[in-house]
Amino acid sequence: MDTCDNRTRTFYIETFGCQMNVHDSEKVAGLLLAQGYDAAASSEEADLVVLNTCAIRDKAEQKVFSRLGHFKADALAGKKTVAVLGCMAQLEGEKIFAQAPYVHLVAGSASYRKLPSLLVQLETGNQRVTGLEYDDQAFETEFTRRNNPFRAYLTIIEGCDKACAYCVVPFTRGPERSRTNASILAEARRLVAEGYTEIQLLGQNVNSYRDPSPHRMSFAELLAAVAEIPGLRRVRFTTSHPRDFTREIVDAIDSHPTLCNHVHLPVQSGSNQVLARMAREYTREEYLEKIALIRSARRAISLTTDIIVGFPGETEADFEETLTLLDTTQYDGMFSFTYSPRPNTPALRLDDQVPEEEKRRRIIALQAWQREIQLARNQKLVGKQFELLVEGENRKRGQYTGRTTNNRVVNFASAEEKLGSYVPIRVTGAGPHSLVGERLAMSVASQRSPGTERGE
Ligand code: SAH
Ligand code: SF4
Ligand code: F3S
Repeated sequence: MDTCDNRTRTFYIETFGCQMNVHDSEKVAGLLLAQGYDAAASSEEADLVVLNTCAIRDKAEQKVFSRLGHFKADALAGKKTVAVLGCMAQLEGEKIFAQAPYVHLVAGSASYRKLPSLLVQLETGNQRVTGLEYDDQAFETEFTRRNNPFRAYLTIIEGCDKACAYCVVPFTRGPERSRTNASILAEARRLVAEGYTEIQLLGQNVNSYRDPSPHRMSFAELLAAVAEIPGLRRVRFTTSHPRDFTREIVDAIDSHPTLCNHVHLPVQSGSNQVLARMAREYTREEYLEKIALIRSARRAISLTTDIIVGFPGETEADFEETLTLLDTTQYDGMFSFTYSPRPNTPALRLDDQVPEEEKRRRIIALQAWQREIQLARNQKLVGKQFELLVEGENRKRGQYTGRTTNNRVVNFASAEEKLGSYVPIRVTGAGPHSLVGERLAMSVASQRSPGTERGE
């Protein structure tokens, strides 16, 4: 980087991966702005290009390397500084310099507290700067520059202390670090004061939250405390780990309408043999007990999951157990993946790899199976009423889109809506992935009671 140039430097961040990464980028952007950088409109125009990367599957890494290549000429010509942040940075470390020698900074999310000093090193002409040590505290900044005008992400716990055999996250994000309840609640109150009505609490395992302050507030208590902040209408949280999922969480949802009635509870597989080899720390039966807890709630709680097919040793019979689990659980949504072998993970040592072709066959069958379940579940909602947070519009076509508290997408026609407002609709049609609705007149009830869902 040319240090003699007094012009304000500009940056552009490209983000890959999950919501944690999306939110990390918001924090990094805030930090760069606070350091005197300006935001550029595109990566082409930026002096500093930041790739905030994902390493969860091989494909995710390939994407980043191909994107990096795009900046090679400018970086080699001294016209751009290139930083690789996030999970791939942590996983590959110095190896990134070997593959892409024109990269200047490589830092994982567990060293973002050091970012200001890493940037200083860059600015003083240091060619290769790294931040790869795990911090023992969560990264907190008052400068977060949030992009989403409706839903504010708020990290409550970083890292992961589990050791699922297929997963790189414990390496890429390091050990668990929770924030104090006071710091979380203060940020939540600030967000409400800024005008946010929906907050999504984030963590790789959000319900493994452990308050480091003497108060030792439990996750369920924290949910309730956030939900009780005046002015807040929706509180979401993701991702929950089945092992740490408790009745208290269900009770909190039941007694706080502000807590959205949606739980994302990744199961990964329906077969006990596969779950054991994955080291998921629960059996099919124990998982189904958690589902029973959720189904026993007074409010109908919508359920979504993640599934991996083709984990080493997964037989046809194991796979069929995943299909029957879908029947039993009746998820409202599913993210599914074919197993991707990852560096450093214990599953690399397992033999009996499932051939790629077979993995593909299974994922197609799985998705078709779940599609039918979702379609049937959504069709049962026709005629019911929901409150939507209006999040998107296609003004020309007079179409709007919004979400129910239990995270269903509903499209509806209307002449004019204010984005970010809450409106009542009645469901008139259903597809496997979304609903169609008609706008109802604003009722007093829907204006007053946040998150009320009379439909289910
Ligand atoms: N912390 C969450 C999810 C983390 S990653 C949890 O424990 O459930 C998001 C999803 O990616 C996982 O739920 C899993 O389904 C998938 N995934 C992780 N590693 C994978 C791999 N090596 N191959 C394929 N899918 C993977
Ligand atoms: Fe990965 Fe398992 Fe941790 Fe989730 S709980 S992030 S799947 S190691
Ligand atoms: Fe990817 Fe890291 Fe998230 S590996 S899924 S960006 S935690």
